[in-house]
Amino acid sequence: PIRRMTVPQIRAKKGGEPIISLTSYHAHTAAIVDKYADFILVGDSLGMVMHGMDSTIGVPLDLMIMHGRAVVRGTKRALIVVDMPFGTYEESPNMAFRNAAKIMKETACGAVKLEGGARMAETIHFLTERGIPVMAHIGLTPQSSHVMGGFKTQGRDEETWAAHINDAVAVADAGAFSLVVEGVVEPLADKITAAVDIPTIGIGASAKCDGQILVLEDMLGLNPWVPKFVKKYGDLGPAIERAVADYAEEVKTRTFPGEDHVYR
Ligand code: KIV
Ligand code: NA
Repeated sequence: PIRRMTVPQIRAKKGGEPIISLTSYHAHTAAIVDKYADFILVGDSLGMVMHGMDSTIGVPLDLMIMHGRAVVRGTKRALIVVDMPFGTYEESPNMAFRNAAKIMKETACGAVKLEGGARMAETIHFLTERGIPVMAHIGLTPQSSHVMGGFKTQGRDEETWAAHINDAVAVADAGAFSLVVEGVVEPLADKITAAVDIPTIGIGASAKCDGQILVLEDMLGLNPWVPKFVKKYGDLGPAIERAVADYAEEVKTRTFPGEDHVYR
């Protein structure tokens, strides 16, 4: 059996070849992404992308576990990282451990991700010491969107940079093996990458980050609206619509099923 990418292998990519990653939420797309990605994130953005929620706040733990399990089943190479959803880790290190352990046991993923900088350092240390690898996530943290007043690009005011850099250093010192840097101005992303000895994974950040991540459905062109930082590598929305429209037409005209699609 092909061995999966390990946490130390990801960690060791600091300053080297860029780390390739995407999100995935189900087995079939994950199997495709698995051919190219170093790690796959089962992100809580699945609440918005797959389940029509207008933020990630309402995503339950069981939903993360269900999609996490599907992605682990569909893959064999990439490290699988599962997001801890809002309300399942912030209260205490004990609570975080209990829920992270549940995620790891029930999905067989290799690591968890949680949002927050310095304030989560104690928890990141607690989990890592007890066998749970943690990917941190700073900058624009969608689970805090109500406090931030929306999905706001961070670091436009240079006076805030020190606090963001402090967050990055705090999670690295606490034992995080990697760090997502989301929605920050490019020069701040570069300073964060230079300030820590763990790989930074950029999304809406900078090409100088140690790796990049995008939400798969966004880069495939399945979402009609995407933020500026998303590059559309595909145009699946219109492709799906064309297929559905063709099917509808053929059903209407009784040209489907045709000769090839019936048992004689
Ligand atoms: O949930 C998610 O998709 C994420 C990525 C955007 C990093 O956290
Ligand atoms: Na997320």
